[in-house]
Amino acid sequence: MSKRLEGQSALVTGSGHGIGRAIAARLAEEGARVMVADINLTAAEDVARELNDTGAEAVAQHVDVTERASIAAMMEQAVARHGRLDVAVSNAGIMDRMPFLEMTDEFWNKVIGLNLSGAFMCGQEAARRMVAQGGGGRIVFVASNSGLFGGRGRAAYGASKAGLMNLTQSMAIELHEHDIRVNAVGPGPTKTRDEQGEIPPPSVMARMPMARFGRAEEVAAVAAFLAAEESSFVTGHTYFADGGYTVAGMMEG
Ligand SMILES: NC(=O)c1ccc[n+]([C@@H]2O[C@H](COP(=O)([O-])OP(=O)(O)OC[C@H]3O[C@@H](n4cnc5c(N)ncnc54)[C@H](O)[C@@H]3O)[C@@H](O)[C@H]2O)c1
Repeated sequence: MSKRLEGQSALVTGSGHGIGRAIAARLAEEGARVMVADINLTAAEDVARELNDTGAEAVAQHVDVTERASIAAMMEQAVARHGRLDVAVSNAGIMDRMPFLEMTDEFWNKVIGLNLSGAFMCGQEAARRMVAQGGGGRIVFVASNSGLFGGRGRAAYGASKAGLMNLTQSMAIELHEHDIRVNAVGPGPTKTRDEQGEIPPPSVMARMPMARFGRAEEVAAVAAFLAAEESSFVTGHTYFADGGYTVAGMMEG
């Protein structure tokens, strides 16, 4: 494993489980000192312990990304602990469905509040600290192929991820002068929970060239690339790790 992030300070939200957990592990493998931040502190502590057992330098932190004060406290802790903040990965999010005609304001606000407003606040709090410390930084969001297409029951989720991809573009434009790059990784269907079963639903398989769930590690590899100097000329983009899902048209014939 290359050590593209040796000695750098990184934090990952929602890293107590799933894709965030895999990203935290990958950044740690690449040499970063990682803050494992999650609303579930016990899960974050378990992940940090596992990483430390491998010789990495990880610390657990409670955060609720729907609360500005909680995000600010996480950032302060990361800077206090590691001296600066080089990489911020805003991953925490929920995928929840509800038919459009039945969708409540409460449901809409919950999904947008966590997936989009939460990412906005994390991105802004990280960027403010990166500007203040000087020397630039990298911000990585976790979007979704659902941000590119409509989906049944996914009005709120798809809108949150579409908004996130546009937020990535605007932040990239405004933060470039501070040497901060902003990108997103866009996972396709990724196996993170037992209830997903072993294969994606037929409607997904039918338009997915690789016809399988992605692994969280496969998404984490792209996030690590976006966090590393290797992607130095890449900003404002969403880089999909989705088995070809977003490029497929007619699949038969
Ligand atoms: N799994 C997929 O198929 C898939 C596909 C595309 C995009 N994504 C995106 O990837 C990201 C991670 O998804 P996942 O499947 O790994 O999810 P997951 O449910 O496995 O893990 C999410 C983590 O976020 C934490 N979290 C929830 N609310 C939080 C809050 N308010 N503050 C801080 N942490 C909070 C949870 O405790 C959990 O540890 C999400 O943004 C999701 O939209 C996932």
